[in-house]
Amino acid sequence: MVTLSPSLQARLTTPLLIGNVAVKSRVLQSPLSGVTDLVFRRLVRRYAPESMMYTEMVSATELHHVKQMPKIMEVDPNERPISIQLFDCRPDFMAEAARKAVEEGADTIDINMGCPVNKITKKGGGSSLLRQPKVAEAIVQEVVKAVHVPVTVKTRIGWNDEEIVILDFAKRMQDAGAQMITVHGRTRAQGYNGNARWEWIGRVKEVLSIPVIANGDIFSVEAAVQCLQQTGADGVMCSRGTLGYPFLVGEIDYFLKTGENLAPPTPIQRLECAKEHLQALWEYKGDRGIRQARKHMTWYAKGFVGAGQLRAELSLIESVQQGVDLIDRAIAQLVNGYEIIEENQLAIAQ
Ligand SMILES: Cc1cc2nc3c(=O)[nH]c(=O)nc-3n(C[C@H](O)[C@H](O)[C@H](O)COP(=O)(O)O)c2cc1C
Repeated sequence: MVTLSPSLQARLTTPLLIGNVAVKSRVLQSPLSGVTDLVFRRLVRRYAPESMMYTEMVSATELHHVKQMPKIMEVDPNERPISIQLFDCRPDFMAEAARKAVEEGADTIDINMGCPVNKITKKGGGSSLLRQPKVAEAIVQEVVKAVHVPVTVKTRIGWNDEEIVILDFAKRMQDAGAQMITVHGRTRAQGYNGNARWEWIGRVKEVLSIPVIANGDIFSVEAAVQCLQQTGADGVMCSRGTLGYPFLVGEIDYFLKTGENLAPPTPIQRLECAKEHLQALWEYKGDRGIRQARKHMTWYAKGFVGAGQLRAELSLIESVQQGVDLIDRAIAQLVNGYEIIEENQLAIAQ
């Protein structure tokens, strides 16, 4: 059980100001490649209507070469606030991409300076920018010049334990014109392993005047509150905790605003949500949506008897109907299971 101190609650119930964009929630849904498409964001927003959401990261080089806007950059005209995340190492391509992103409806432009994937870092993008602060500065400066919306940066604490550069790097990004910085409290070398080192996020907060968002290991309301208390950050960003659980951002947001916990979804509600997610992915992306849905479905199927078997089956679905049938069968079994428990309890009670 976690409680919110009155001072923390007072601080967190004011809007988050990202330049001239006021966001009425201090909980953000992170960009997740292969996950945070329009369909997923709609589900998250149902529970967290005021939160800032991010597209998957978009390559500025690819954008330069294609005629048609990629689907990952598509934004629903009603979904606000929304940030389009870009990555690359070329300031001119980034500026061009940012202009296109604003045309698509982005409220802010986020620059990815944290991705650890070799394919990206070898080309000078993502977390490799932590080792090229001058290039990183030039990117921010050019993007700021190119668009009228706020420009933000998402990064890590450093390349490895020998190169934890975040204090200097974050200041440079602020001086270059970034209006907010999100810090994932891991080094590039850590990947997604070990703990996020929130203590570094607290130090960043001490030296910057722009908002600092804490990211890494925010898997629950408790973790969010502990992180906000420990770091003094202006908000928290949820990532892996939302995989198969689009309720998390809303749960934390609700707690920060009211001091009360929402009832967590039951396994049946989670499966109903999985079914809706599957059907929407199919409608939005066709067969490719089904292939992408497999991983989502396995993330939803957790925390009840028979979940392992269901996960194995859902990871192989070839059609929307096959997935729907499997989920419906699991829901029916859960419903029957609950009846049995209730009957037993009734028997005991009698
Ligand atoms: C599947 C996956 C995809 C990700 N894609 C992106 C991305 O497109 N852009 C980005 O800035 N970070 C991306 N990240 C990093 C997360 O946004 C986040 O910084 C990281 O997972 C740490 O938070 P966590 O410990 O709560 O998961 C991704 C992470 C995962 C697991």
